[in-house]
Amino acid sequence: MTNTTTTTNTFTKIKEIAPGCFRLRVPFHFLGLIDVGTHMTFLKLSSGKFLTLSTVDLDPEAKAEVDTLTQNGSLIEAVVATNPFHTLAFEAFYAAYGKGKDVKFYGTPRHLRKYPGIPWAGSVEDEKILKLWEKDVDLRIPLDDAFKVSENPGFVSQLFGARHNEISFHASLLGPAINKTPTAPREFHDWVLQLVKDWDFENMGTCHGGVMIGGAKAELVKCLEKNKRL
Ligand SMILES: [Fe+2]
Repeated sequence: MTNTTTTTNTFTKIKEIAPGCFRLRVPFHFLGLIDVGTHMTFLKLSSGKFLTLSTVDLDPEAKAEVDTLTQNGSLIEAVVATNPFHTLAFEAFYAAYGKGKDVKFYGTPRHLRKYPGIPWAGSVEDEKILKLWEKDVDLRIPLDDAFKVSENPGFVSQLFGARHNEISFHASLLGPAINKTPTAPREFHDWVLQLVKDWDFENMGTCHGGVMIGGAKAELVKCLEKNKRL
């Protein structure tokens, strides 16, 4: 860890938000207008290699930092797509870090359908795949964007009640992120409840919105209480 931390001190794009958890956030414009941001994460395994969650478009600066962190990709063991609707950067990431190399790519069924040119090693719907790194990482994937951390919300968001360092359920839960069945909201509620019971965590990074360092579990419990009508 010491070497990695020393190296990443010079980074401006990738941030270590918890020991061994490196988050790269980049701008992402919803409908080409509002920057809602998006992210990918590099998790350092006990082997010294990285498990990469999701992908983003890399500008030259971000690419240089990824190259430094992962020794030009040689430390990337696997790439896991976690959000069915976050697909746009996968082909480019595969071309840069996967093609001709020993890096396994795992996707949601939507990824597998959309990009048949990537030799996917499996689907995240398969519980066996999620357990591949269980020695170091407990992976649970409920659906698309589930949570949002509000970090310095803008004026308009504040008008709608958002405050700094608040966790809310992501707006996509009203749209494509939740199954259209009568029991889906209850199933999601129970899934979050179980997660809160099983995991001790303090920090949280969300794909859109920001990152909360400290107090994230308590905020998530608050969010769940507030949305009990689910
Ligand atoms: Fe999203």
